[in-house]
Amino acid sequence: MLIRTGISLDSELLRRFDRVICKRGYKNRSEAIRDLVRDYAVAEDVEEDRTVVGTLTLVYDHHRPKLSAQLLAVQHHAQALVLAATHVHLDRKHCLEVVLMKGRSSQVRRIADQILTLRGVKHGKLVLTTRGKGLA
Ligand code: NI
Repeated sequence: MLIRTGISLDSELLRRFDRVICKRGYKNRSEAIRDLVRDYAVAEDVEEDRTVVGTLTLVYDHHRPKLSAQLLAVQHHAQALVLAATHVHLDRKHCLEVVLMKGRSSQVRRIADQILTLRGVKHGKLVLTTRGKGLA
């Protein structure tokens, strides 16, 4: 069910909001505000340690001794959380990997931290998401 609501905003803040959402391609304020509210809901799911899905993207140096084995070991150890992983050979030295996980946000974060702190991992980011009502 859709409910209409009104909000009061400082005119300067509203102008700025309109500028930003226009740049990003929103056709109207409602859709932009709905996305912001969903983002709050996802943030709450993460904060409350609910079940989330996470994608960890990382770039690493595969010439680093033992790193490939360590990455596999962490993922095998956390196999209950790891849904899948994708590997791309970026160049002679670097690999890109995306690890998809599902579990409590604290568990998913712990695995991501274990991976990101391995020596030879150059860069990485974890994105956590839900449907905005938690996942079963
Ligand atoms: Ni590779």
